[in-house]
Amino acid sequence: MAHQHETIPASAGLPPIDLRSDTVTRPTEAMYARMASAPLGDDGLDGDPTARELEAVAAAALGKDAGLFVPSCTMANLLATLAQSQRSEQIALEANAHMYVSERGAATFTGQFYLAIGGTDGAMDLNVLEDAMQGEGLKLRTAMVAMETSHNNASGAVLPLAHMQAVHAMAAARGIPVHLDGARLFNAAVALETAPAEVARHCDTVSLCLSKGLSAPAGAVLAGPRAVIDRSRKFRRMLGGTQRQIGVLAAAGLEAVEVMGARLGEDHRRARALSDALNGMHPKLSATIPQTNILQVDVSRSGQDSAAWSAALEKAGLRARPWGKHRLRCVTHRHIDDADIDRAVSAFRTLAGALA
Ligand SMILES: Cc1ncc(COP(=O)(O)O)c(C=O)c1O
Repeated sequence: MAHQHETIPASAGLPPIDLRSDTVTRPTEAMYARMASAPLGDDGLDGDPTARELEAVAAAALGKDAGLFVPSCTMANLLATLAQSQRSEQIALEANAHMYVSERGAATFTGQFYLAIGGTDGAMDLNVLEDAMQGEGLKLRTAMVAMETSHNNASGAVLPLAHMQAVHAMAAARGIPVHLDGARLFNAAVALETAPAEVARHCDTVSLCLSKGLSAPAGAVLAGPRAVIDRSRKFRRMLGGTQRQIGVLAAAGLEAVEVMGARLGEDHRRARALSDALNGMHPKLSATIPQTNILQVDVSRSGQDSAAWSAALEKAGLRARPWGKHRLRCVTHRHIDDADIDRAVSAFRTLAGALA
């Protein structure tokens, strides 16, 4: 297949279309302007005013008492666990959740165990979760339950609010706090046509990534009850996550929270357009139908694995990441316009044309 097609005319002379992740997005002009004029202080001493403003604005947008600006969403999730659970306790979460698949190495430092609960489209099986929360006798106590929406490994699926509400109610009945990995919470809210706070109301703490579809260069916010955020602030310092004149970055984060959510629907529409084109292209190719900005392309019937597809697509002017051996992941974002989707489709078509 691919090796027969070194280039496609549509890509000639143009930079590759980068669908590897929404993390590749660069700051907007408005972000740079806010960064240049942001009031600054020492956030490790008596506080950085712009970081404090971002924390308040993000907490309000998420419907929580308080917020904490952190360098990454990984740290936000880690702080939620540290502030709300002890060593030798466990965190129950869906088996494909980012916190489980990519972040559970934290257990080597925290002494907290991650318990994977089977699920569908990112939603945990509630009966299995119920059992996990029993924790009687010699079992580990479940100290926290975590959800994720939109769900990265479930191809950007959005948890139904009824599911989130059920998980929250089950956990609350046992006094167990619920954390939401809301790295792409604004995408979920746009897909649900509701406000981010309406999604986050079904959890106690929530992390929000500023550097994905929202286009800030770095950073995330953890939001929740003030006492939990105060404890998290102390843990952040212990982890080396307290930064000094960090208002420079927080200024971009403010723009991300206040302005950038409004355009995410465009990314969702383009992801759907790409998925539709791929599903109509060749019987040996199929794509998930995205609810948000992430789709996965199944190449298992093509005779080539995802690494071979990724390499061949790159030569055709399209960057897409292997996601396991048989799937590619494509993520739309602010730097992808309609013409880029057309070029992405033609890159796939060039390769598909060589399939039997
Ligand atoms: C759902 C989810 N949670 C957390 C993270 C971690 O974010 P960061 O790279 O800011 O640590 C990611 C990153 O891809 C993610 O997709």
